[in-house]
Amino acid sequence: MDTPIRIALAKGRLEKQCRALFARAGYDCSALENPGRRLIHTLPNGAGLAPLEAVLAKAPDVVTYVSRGVCGLGVAGKDTVMEQGGPFYETLDLKLGACRFALAAPEGTVFFGGAGHKRVATKFPNITRRFLSELGVDAEIIRIEGSCELAPLLGLADAIVDIVETGATLRENGLAVLRELFPLSARLIVNVAAYKLRRAEIDRLTERLRESLPPSLTGENKA
Ligand code: PRP
Repeated sequence: MDTPIRIALAKGRLEKQCRALFARAGYDCSALENPGRRLIHTLPNGAGLAPLEAVLAKAPDVVTYVSRGVCGLGVAGKDTVMEQGGPFYETLDLKLGACRFALAAPEGTVFFGGAGHKRVATKFPNITRRFLSELGVDAEIIRIEGSCELAPLLGLADAIVDIVETGATLRENGLAVLRELFPLSARLIVNVAAYKLRRAEIDRLTERLRESLPPSLTGENKA
């Protein structure tokens, strides 16, 4: 019970809400408030729960660390969890960072049915490939690391598949949603071997987090 469970937490848009959730679950999260450049922080016992060793990482790395078993648990957006997949269980929808995946393009673009070769820029090539194939659209997928809204503006792509939260980035760059894909939020993921070894503690923590979830999804989720 006193051996910490290592948990990778995604930095960025989910960080603040995630910290608040673990604080509501009973953990002392003060170390995460001003983490400086330190990347690993101990979160002392949440009443009756195992202490946590919180690893601050970029979302794709959260999934890698949990998949490879160096972190037993992780919190990352469903977008990254789906994009990467791996040998882990997705045990809880934390209902944080609510947003959605969408196909978007410059206002007035005829994407479906229009003639010619289509190019779609995205940070999520696997999800985009699956989605376009379900729609029967044959398109070239161009992987972008940062704001893929730039790609149509620069003439690199006809459309993008990306996260839309407030819609401000699309609006301010003259883009509009062509098709909503599905809703997204943060997920708790659990390494398969870690779950076998520490099942009771992980179940208790999962239950406590479930009880500590925000009552409803709001539009104000940006960290
Ligand atoms: C995401 C996403 C969009 C933007 C959408 O990027 O890729 O660019 O947020 O949010 P909005 O609908 O509220 O405008 P993020 O801010 O996570 O940063 P990133 O580009 O570094 O991934």
